[in-house]
This record gives sequence, structure tokens and C-alpha cells, in this order.
Amino acid sequence: MTTSWGVAQEPDRQHAIGELGHPEDGWAGRALSLATLYPPTTVPTIRFDQEGQQVGCIEGANLRKAALDAGINPYKGLNNFNNCGGLGQCGTCVVEVLEGARNLSPRSDVEEVYLADRPASYRLSCRTSVNGDVTIRTRPAEGVGKGSNSLVGALKALVGRG
Ligand code: FES
Repeated sequence: MTTSWGVAQEPDRQHAIGELGHPEDGWAGRALSLATLYPPTTVPTIRFDQEGQQVGCIEGANLRKAALDAGINPYKGLNNFNNCGGLGQCGTCVVEVLEGARNLSPRSDVEEVYLADRPASYRLSCRTSVNGDVTIRTRPAEGVGKGSNSLVGALKALVGRG
């Protein structure tokens, strides 16, 4: 097959070139066609309510890491020293989801254990992936309870009374 400008093309190749625009259309025509071929991806936005901060992240980003990268502390008080560093072992990185819960990964089994006595809107930030826009409250008032996800709970577990 031969194009209108006299270049032999395979049918698929000709189709691809056709979508990129005819060479006589110039760069503007090509840019428009490239935008069609590669539409801009949406960047999830995390709005941290208490800090009044808004950060963009890649789809599937870890919520705890995104917070830390933005200079936002997900831990409260002594839990700054008494946390597992994002391994899902301490239950201290609790956040409250104010908006956009459907844009987060589902609650994991670990979260179900640590957050059993907390509202459904509470999540462990280190176990949560962000897939779309959300609004988050870090360090919610009753985020860390008196059980396994508290300093007392950790000390009890350490001395065998957990
Ligand atoms: S940092 Fe320990 S459970 Fe999230």
C-alpha cells in the first residue's frame, strides 16, 4: 500500500501515521493527535485536612509514605518512637478518611484487627493505597486505642500480658 505522499506502508503502520497527523498538517496537528493517543493521566490528590496541605501522588501510592514525603507526621506523641516503620505491625499510623474512601484500597485484614473498635472511616495509613482524590485527617482523636495499637498495649505484649 502507498500513502498519498508516496511512501510504501504496511496497513497498520499507515493507520498509526494517520492518527499522528499528516506531515503537511505541521506540528500543531501532530501534537493534537499525540494528545489523543496519550491522554493525560489523572494524578490523585491527597488533601490533609488538619495541615491544610494538598499533595499529588502516583496512583497506588502508599498513604503513610505520601504523608511523610510531604512532611506530614502520621504519628501521635510517643508513637513517633513506638511504631513499626510502616510494616503493619503496630497500628499507630491511624488516619481518618473524611472524603473519597472509595478511592482507597479496601481495608486489609491487619486493619480489621487493629481498628476493630474504631469507626469504618479509620485506616492504617501504611496499609492503604491511594487510587484517587481523598481528604484525610491525620492523628484523629481516638485513632489509637487502649488495646494492641497503643503504647500500653505494646508494653503489655512485651511483658506477656497482651
Ligand atoms: S506504621 Fe505500624 S501499622 Fe502502620
